[in-house]
Amino acid sequence: MKKVILDLDTGIDDTLALSYILGSPDAELIGITGTYGNVVVEQGVSNDLNLLAMYHREDIPVFSGVPYPTGATSFQPEWFVYHGENGTGNITIPATATRKAEEKSAVDFIIESVREYGDDLVVVPTGASTTIAAVFEKAPDIIDKIHIVLMGGSLTQPGNCNPFQEANMGQDPIASNKMFATDADITMVGLDVTTQALMSREDTQKLRDTGTTSGKFLADMTDYYIGVSEKDEGALPNVCNLHDPLAAAVALDPTLVKTFPINIKVETEGVSVGRTIGDPSRLLSPVKNTKVALEVDTKRFTERFMERLLSLVTTIG
Ligand code: BDR
Ligand code: CA
Repeated sequence: MKKVILDLDTGIDDTLALSYILGSPDAELIGITGTYGNVVVEQGVSNDLNLLAMYHREDIPVFSGVPYPTGATSFQPEWFVYHGENGTGNITIPATATRKAEEKSAVDFIIESVREYGDDLVVVPTGASTTIAAVFEKAPDIIDKIHIVLMGGSLTQPGNCNPFQEANMGQDPIASNKMFATDADITMVGLDVTTQALMSREDTQKLRDTGTTSGKFLADMTDYYIGVSEKDEGALPNVCNLHDPLAAAVALDPTLVKTFPINIKVETEGVSVGRTIGDPSRLLSPVKNTKVALEVDTKRFTERFMERLLSLVTTIG
């Protein structure tokens, strides 16, 4: 049983990642921290609270993270078309939270949790890296204790914002670069593998066929994502990528992917801003702190993903 913190910009695939973790018997979700990206922090946190209400898990605390990129004083989502204006494909979450986010900051919650649980805990960021960079800045003592499995970046595939940039790494490249520049144990689950992890309308129909409110919500929300995704140039018809759920699954079971050890940097300026690439200044370093996922057992992942989501919505109703 692994303790998990999800650092989400909730977000359709973030919602699916949360659902996967809640449906996993080998995971204990100890908290959600809200970052920005698909939506602003406030919207993401509100989605998290309502989703936890839908899943009857209002025992899980939610914390607000750093709301803007390094050096900025505001944030507007550029990619909201993918996730709808409310982050859940313009489908209303069928529950309303009876509580607010915790007073404690996401930064302090992550620091305290890493100090308390060490190797028993994995942190799964699936949005902008600003909160994680702030954690490292405030508490450098936890850098050699934290385990991160993140969704973001790409080593072998073009970006999804432009040829260089994956969306999460493009939100705050300075923060992402600071995160990778530490010696922290990071597994990068990027477009190299997440573009091979797919969900189809046949899969969403299985969720709808459970006849449950939560299953219908997830199906309608994901159909929106499939509809938007298939309009992308060169995209496959009838599917969307399970970016964030794959990172969540790898956090619980690293054997789903094969990784390559490397020290990563994130470009912070120029045409390739946001690109994740090997750091030439650490090329000869014997310590490689990042494991980049380059191969994925898609069959094992997608079967497990559907099994856990179907079991969750059937139990919840
Ligand atoms: C990532 O960007 C966000 O839009 C998704 O939620 C995912 O985390 C994919 O590049
Ligand atoms: Ca995300």
